[in-house]
Amino acid sequence: MNSTGYTPTATRAWKNLQQLAETAQAQSISALFSSDPERSRDMSVACGELMLDYSKNLVSKQTWQALLQLAAESPLESHRAAMFSGENINTTEDRAVLHAALRAEIGDQTLASAADESDQRVRLVKQQLANVKQVSEKIRSGQWLGSTGKAITDVINIGIGGSDLGPKLACNALQEFAHPGLTLHFISNVDGAEILTTLKKLNPETTLVALASKTFTTQETLLNAKTARHWFANTLGLENAQTSSHFIGLTANRENARAYGIPDDQILEFAEWVGGRYSLWSSIGLSIAISIGYDNFVEMLAGAREMDLHFQQAPTGQNMPVILALLGIWYSNFLDAQSTAVIPYCERLLLLPAYLQQLDMESNGKSTTLDGQPVDYQTGPILWGQTGTNGQHAFFQLLHQGTRLVPIDFIAAAVDNLSNQEHHRVLLGNMLAQGSALMCGQPAPKDEPFHYYPGNKPSNTLLLKSLSPKNFGALIALYEHKVFVQGSIWNINSFDQWGVELGKKMANQLLAESDGEQAQLDPSTSALSAYIDSCQ
Ligand code: F6P
Repeated sequence: MNSTGYTPTATRAWKNLQQLAETAQAQSISALFSSDPERSRDMSVACGELMLDYSKNLVSKQTWQALLQLAAESPLESHRAAMFSGENINTTEDRAVLHAALRAEIGDQTLASAADESDQRVRLVKQQLANVKQVSEKIRSGQWLGSTGKAITDVINIGIGGSDLGPKLACNALQEFAHPGLTLHFISNVDGAEILTTLKKLNPETTLVALASKTFTTQETLLNAKTARHWFANTLGLENAQTSSHFIGLTANRENARAYGIPDDQILEFAEWVGGRYSLWSSIGLSIAISIGYDNFVEMLAGAREMDLHFQQAPTGQNMPVILALLGIWYSNFLDAQSTAVIPYCERLLLLPAYLQQLDMESNGKSTTLDGQPVDYQTGPILWGQTGTNGQHAFFQLLHQGTRLVPIDFIAAAVDNLSNQEHHRVLLGNMLAQGSALMCGQPAPKDEPFHYYPGNKPSNTLLLKSLSPKNFGALIALYEHKVFVQGSIWNINSFDQWGVELGKKMANQLLAESDGEQAQLDPSTSALSAYIDSCQ
């Protein structure tokens, strides 16, 4: 036991699950259906316009009860209350974790335990969102003018990680609602080819840079911004473009943005209790509001709030984020799955796996408990995926006949206004067929073992009625809370990211060496560095 008095592996439920796991692989999901005609009905749950079917899992009723028991024996309930009430649950950075406040309403019971404080926070959020509304509407209506008096046609969001992935995913996913006269561009990588080729296509007179960085210190973002500034200087003669109407700063660090030169009224702030990977709901989402309009942006927030309320109020066994989290723990901690795949059957959700990689792997890729002890169990899985049907013609071979257990989340919109009936029927038919084939399998004809489909491969199917801003918001909040539940059960801090710091420090050392300073590098890295130098 540690100082929180909780170790997941010491709970009765954990030990019970270990025993159940010994025989689980011998069970058949299909047989579980045969013995329980209500399985499909009982193992599905709805929240708003999202419906999750989790019946195709290698989970008997007994296992499911044990998983629910694990949640009950974990600090999940108190941890969830602590998050929503604004306690500093991000202990290593001594910060609250309040992205849910970004979509809460005043008087909202979502932040109940400290009602006054919570209302004040929501008021602050509303002010900050009012700035997003004002700026986005000015840009959308053509009233925000560049330095030569022309309206904006192109917006470049320069940011990385949480300051890029969420806005980029949302703009792509919600293109049905996009402003026809505005094009959004996303520059994240420090690879100069990315920004230089983008700038070549643009007219500086009508281009706006949204410089998105929580800290306003990130190397890649600042270098890309510098290149953009030089472009404005070279093309428009605009020295210090960062002080002009061509730059807006989106940050939790007003001081740094101000020191950079962004005019005060062009800095859209958000609070430091919003983690970078949870920031698309804040002013970091400006590019989303520019693209789909502020009202749709608010719809996205409303969908996330609906999921927040569901997460707080639904009983554990009908709580969508808890269900997804428990299933993930079952496969990862008890059945030895190393990874989990997210396969959206919707091309506009192509970037969802990349977004979820940061959300899940930066949050739960930890091996130290909240009490600073090394864990002796697996934590966050490797998350990967891409869209169906494309994936069917690439990696699905491994899913059907490979040796690894890969639980899958299939995601689709039941109705798609941008598609037509024929395409959509084929798309969804493929998704349903894959889930079924993976579960049912097929015996091999005599002497043809290569035709054997073992089946018994688990999947969830998550259906959105349509890919509306509201449903998109609920989808993202669902995964945020899933990650939270898993972190609570694993007793880790899902809200820091110290693991990324060492590489940043060493990059700085290496770059200092190229500037003539002597860095302490290992022999392999020194040799590689020397080889690169010799090629240049
Ligand atoms: O290095 C990781 C990280 O800190 C992420 O957590 C974050 O989303 C990203 O870098 C960008 O940080 P910022 O928004 O401060 O530029």
